[in-house]
Amino acid sequence: MIVSEFVPKPYKFLLDSGSVTYNSPSNIALVKYWGKEAHQIPANPSISFTLNNCKTLTTLQFEKKTTKGFSFEVFFEGIIKNEFMPKIVQFFERIEVYLPFLSRYHFKIETSNTFPHSSGIASSASGMSALALCLVQLEQRLNPETTKAFFNKKASFLARLGSGSACRSIEGPLIVWGSHDNIIGSSDFLGIKYPYEVHPNFNNFCDTILLVDKGEKQVSSTVGHDLMHGHPFAEQRFAQAHTNIDALIKVFKTGDLSAFISIVEREALTLHAMMMSSDPYFTLMKPNTLEIINKIWAFRKKTGLHICFTLDAGANVHVLFPENEANEIRQFVKASLIMHCQNEHFIEDNLGQGAQPIKI
Ligand code: DP6
Repeated sequence: MIVSEFVPKPYKFLLDSGSVTYNSPSNIALVKYWGKEAHQIPANPSISFTLNNCKTLTTLQFEKKTTKGFSFEVFFEGIIKNEFMPKIVQFFERIEVYLPFLSRYHFKIETSNTFPHSSGIASSASGMSALALCLVQLEQRLNPETTKAFFNKKASFLARLGSGSACRSIEGPLIVWGSHDNIIGSSDFLGIKYPYEVHPNFNNFCDTILLVDKGEKQVSSTVGHDLMHGHPFAEQRFAQAHTNIDALIKVFKTGDLSAFISIVEREALTLHAMMMSSDPYFTLMKPNTLEIINKIWAFRKKTGLHICFTLDAGANVHVLFPENEANEIRQFVKASLIMHCQNEHFIEDNLGQGAQPIKI
């Protein structure tokens, strides 16, 4: 499947060498992407908050070469990481038609994260989006007429081919990926900024990430997505994601935080319910994940504050809350929740505006 809009005209020239650097954030889905078809087409639309502090910084050095094929080396926090190569080769193979210069250069990819290494935080979204952005930035140097709007679209389109959720990290603070009847401009190919009114209740919304388990995931996202093929509840789940986005459109307009909480928590638990009812089945929540969830529910009942949780494909808990309730909620998190984290590790984050080029 080739999407011709993103296939460039032949470049008029190639630069001999140089480097580009991009900073790209992670994101947290409110309505989850779980299940995909060939070419990284999502089985249902998803919507996410872009984060502000959890970021990957990537520098791409390029040097013209005459040999055939891809040539690159990859470093993570200064250390060569050959184990990252297969995923990048697969990414390059998928995107070469859109970036024909890929085989003309040798690349040195240097990358680091602002969040702790192996924190169990999905680094594929920030990592793949940062790499896609560096590559599109290089292309822009070869074709300076590219507009900012096209730049962002192409970066998101390419990032999706690296890791689906990465296409939601280019911009912020609220991104939709996947075609939805009631969201104009939404597309299975790339993420777009949420195009409608968002109530001030959601300004600077906060996300404290509780690192319950920093180990390697037992099941990769790719394997998890695949288990939605033939899953007995798949069709109902995909339909539910559409309905939940419709409900969120209303919530973003009215600022109804109670309705927000009910949609977001149901999405998180449905994601895990899909994993627990697939064949083979598995659980990614840990006892501490449930401890935290129960304490959040009890605290919300007692105080009436608008604290809620969401989960990724792992044991960590994202605690979401509005900025004007942050003081009390952060105190509660520190006093009652971080004891359930590995080494009491947590990250305070909030909504961000997306990726940024870095001049070095
Ligand atoms: C549970 O984007 O990591 O975080 O496309 O196979 O790289 P691939 O999957 P990935 O899946 C993320 C799944 C999720 C939900 C979400 O972010 O929407």
